[in-house]
Amino acid sequence: MKEIRSEANPDNSLPIGVFDSGLGGLTVVNAIRQCLPREKILYLGDNARVPYGTRSGATVERYARNCSEFLLNQRLKMLVVACNTVSAVALPAIRRMTAIPVLGVIEAGVRAVSISNAYRVGIIGTAGTILSDAYLQKIAEVNPDIEVYQEPTPLLVPLVEEGWLEGEITEAIIAQYLEPMVADEIQVLLLGCTHYPLLLKPIRKVLHLLGNRAAVIDSATCMAIDVENMIREKDLGAPDSATGGLSCFITDLPVSFQEVASRFLGETLTDITQVDIS
Ligand code: DGL
Repeated sequence: MKEIRSEANPDNSLPIGVFDSGLGGLTVVNAIRQCLPREKILYLGDNARVPYGTRSGATVERYARNCSEFLLNQRLKMLVVACNTVSAVALPAIRRMTAIPVLGVIEAGVRAVSISNAYRVGIIGTAGTILSDAYLQKIAEVNPDIEVYQEPTPLLVPLVEEGWLEGEITEAIIAQYLEPMVADEIQVLLLGCTHYPLLLKPIRKVLHLLGNRAAVIDSATCMAIDVENMIREKDLGAPDSATGGLSCFITDLPVSFQEVASRFLGETLTDITQVDIS
């Protein structure tokens, strides 16, 4: 695959590219749009190959390079990797493909943890994210005194995809996953997956029922704050006259597409194009 090397582009009118393994990254788009309504966003969801979280690092990196190449060919001012699994295993490879800023969701979450003053932190994510130890290593770099308790929570992605966002079964699964870290008295729980912001309510309820008062940090909101800071730092903000917008590229168009997409985005997607990126 050819390397895409371009000079950092000073054109503030260019869009921000965002990609994810599927539609879950629309939680990140939602958060970015709330902070930066004038920005134009190009979103790519590789929903033909979702999930990434159960695959090997080498396969995730290959898929991530396909996604990045497609978006970088559209001309962007910034690339946002909304997928935790990709951010965990493929960020250096993506950064080597371009000179524009590339932001990963894990770095954003770690920054939020580091300013939380917590010294016992729980992290949940896909098997790929947790087994990579990316959060563990990055937290140790910023503060080696923070104790990290990690748990892969693979059943939560299919629960969200199926719309099981509350109820006894969902709460029982969450409780089973969180009990060990609650026993370790975590003070912060970081939701290290695109899908988990939709489970905020049952997660808070379960923590409460288990007698734990941990603050819950979701990586989508952290990512939006990082994007806003980078835009300010590099003076990349869209012109005052810009109205913003969202164009969405997807690699498959299943029957359930609109229902699942609007669950993550909070509104119906209108500008959708199906593409082949492999
Ligand atoms: N987007 C993935 C993540 O944030 C979750 C879905 C998947 O496994 O691909 O890790």
